[in-house]
Amino acid sequence: MNAGIIGMGKYIPEKALSNSEIEQFLDTSDEWIRSRTGIGNRYIAENEETSDLAYKAAQQAIQNAGITADEVGLIIVATVTQDQNFPSVACQIQERLGISGCGAMDISAACSGFIYGTAIAKQFIESNSYEYILVVGVEKLSKITDWKDRNTAVLFGDGASAAVIGKVSEGRGILAYELGADGTGGKHLYLNPENHISMNGREVFKFAVRQMGESAVNVLEKAGLTKGDVDYLVPHQANIRIMEAARERLGLPEEKMSKTIQKYGNTSAASIGISIVDDLAEGKIKDDDIVVLVGFGGGLTWGALALKWGK
Ligand code: COA
Repeated sequence: MNAGIIGMGKYIPEKALSNSEIEQFLDTSDEWIRSRTGIGNRYIAENEETSDLAYKAAQQAIQNAGITADEVGLIIVATVTQDQNFPSVACQIQERLGISGCGAMDISAACSGFIYGTAIAKQFIESNSYEYILVVGVEKLSKITDWKDRNTAVLFGDGASAAVIGKVSEGRGILAYELGADGTGGKHLYLNPENHISMNGREVFKFAVRQMGESAVNVLEKAGLTKGDVDYLVPHQANIRIMEAARERLGLPEEKMSKTIQKYGNTSAASIGISIVDDLAEGKIKDDDIVVLVGFGGGLTWGALALKWGK
């Protein structure tokens, strides 16, 4: 029996920050941001920490999965913006969920974190080590954003998503995964000594366009599927032009790709999960759909999952 996603949750902080508001303190424009990135708005966590966002998404995912928190056997939190180096966000939310005792760890794979976490969870579920695993992708990027740098400040937003991974019925679930990294590209996207995101946008763009398409194709092959089998693509929401390149590589029409970047910006490890929650609510993802998730991020890292949706 395959492991699959049996429940999802998300949490978006209250304060919206539109492109026009950014125009007021940075030399940029709504027109530039929209046309170059597809972003129109993002949300900023003002009085909440990463663990607060993570906890709220986790609660919703557990409820949505129809289990109780004490049935969770392992917590995996993907983030690069933890409240502090330790304890981990996973331990912090374990305390708030009132489930002391289960395993809990943070993993660091930047924007690919949700895919890495879910692929790890799949191994533990399919080896019968745990019945249910909570995977959270969460970021408070606003605290590492250099608000004077127009190259990066316009791109990112805060948010959280969570998934409960468990066994699903025959034929459904995670069919294949691909995880990858190229440490030689670490210099293109990193946290600098001032604790701000530093990015070579052009290099990251080139890498992402190539790698997102590549990974999506690879994961399909691993699953024994072809492009024609794909019902829906959920790419990491980093830049609409990067996402479109992945969509075109799979030969999918526009309506078969998730697009939430205009609302939330790039929420890093949270973006794919947030998109799935919105798409499920809008009926864009249905049971038995073949869904491909694909992401890339600092590291440089990448990852993809092919799923047959449903419990
Ligand atoms: N507003 C206005 N102008 C801006 C700007 C902004 N917010 N940011 C950059 N510019 C300017 C640049 O200074 C440059 O001006 P110059 O030609 O006078 O030097 C010009 O716009 C074009 O820059 P360029 O880098 O060619 O733009 P681009 O079309 O490649 O878009 C990014 C820049 C950052 C949007 C794009 O490279 C990108 O999305 N890269 C990937 C980033 C990413 O996804 N990071 C997260 C990974 S998880």
